[in-house]
Amino acid sequence: MNHIVAISGSPSAESRSAIVLQHLKHVLEREGHKVTEVSVLDFDPKVLINAEYNHPSLREASEAIQQSQGVIIASPVYKAAYSGVLKCLLDLMPQDCLKDKAVLPLMIGGSQAHLLAIDYSLKPLLAALHAQTILRGVYLTDSQIDKTNVLDPILDEDLEERLKNQLQQFIAIANKISQIHE
Ligand SMILES: Cc1cc2nc3c(=O)[nH]c(=O)nc-3n(C[C@H](O)[C@H](O)[C@H](O)COP(=O)(O)O)c2cc1C
Repeated sequence: MNHIVAISGSPSAESRSAIVLQHLKHVLEREGHKVTEVSVLDFDPKVLINAEYNHPSLREASEAIQQSQGVIIASPVYKAAYSGVLKCLLDLMPQDCLKDKAVLPLMIGGSQAHLLAIDYSLKPLLAALHAQTILRGVYLTDSQIDKTNVLDPILDEDLEERLKNQLQQFIAIANKISQIHE
C-alpha cells in the first residue's frame, strides 16, 4: 500500500483536471492505495497571494506530501503553461518537497496546440522541487473528458489505456522508493 497525494491545480469549480484525478483516485483506492486530495481551491486565496508560509493549511498539505511515496499533479493549460494558482501553491511548499517521490504530471488543455506545455513548463517546475522520478505524463484535451461522468470520464479508449499504463508505472516506482526507505 502506498500513500499518494493528488494535487489539482485548477481554480475552476467544475474542473476537468479534478475529474481526471478523481478517476485515478478511484482506480488507486481499488488497488488498496491511500490517496489524499489537495486542490488549490482548498486554500484561502489570501494565504496564497500573501505567501503565508506558516499557515496551517499549507503545513497540512506539505506534511501529506512528505509522508507520501508518490504525487500526481494535474494542471489545466493556461496561456500555454500550468495555472498561476498552482505555481502560487507550489512556491509555498518546501524547496525539496518532491524529493524521494514518484511524480506523475497531467495537463488538460482546450486543444492539442499546447501539447508540449507538460514538457517545457510543468516538468521543469517539478524538477526544481527535487522530484525523484518524473513520469512521461499524459496530456488530455477537453473533448476527451466527460465532466458529467465522474466514475468513467475518459472518452477515448487509447487515452484511458495510456493513463492506466502511466499509473501502473507510477505505482511501480513508488513501490521501489518505499522499499529503499524502509
Ligand atoms: C485563462 C485560461 C487560459 C487558457 N489557456 C489555454 C491555452 O493556452 N491552451 C489551451 O490548450 N487551453 C487553454 N485553456 C483551456 C483550458 O486549459 C481547458 O479548458 C482545461 O480543460 C481547463 O481545465 P479545468 O477544467 O481543470 O480548469 C485556457 C483556459 C482558461 C480559463
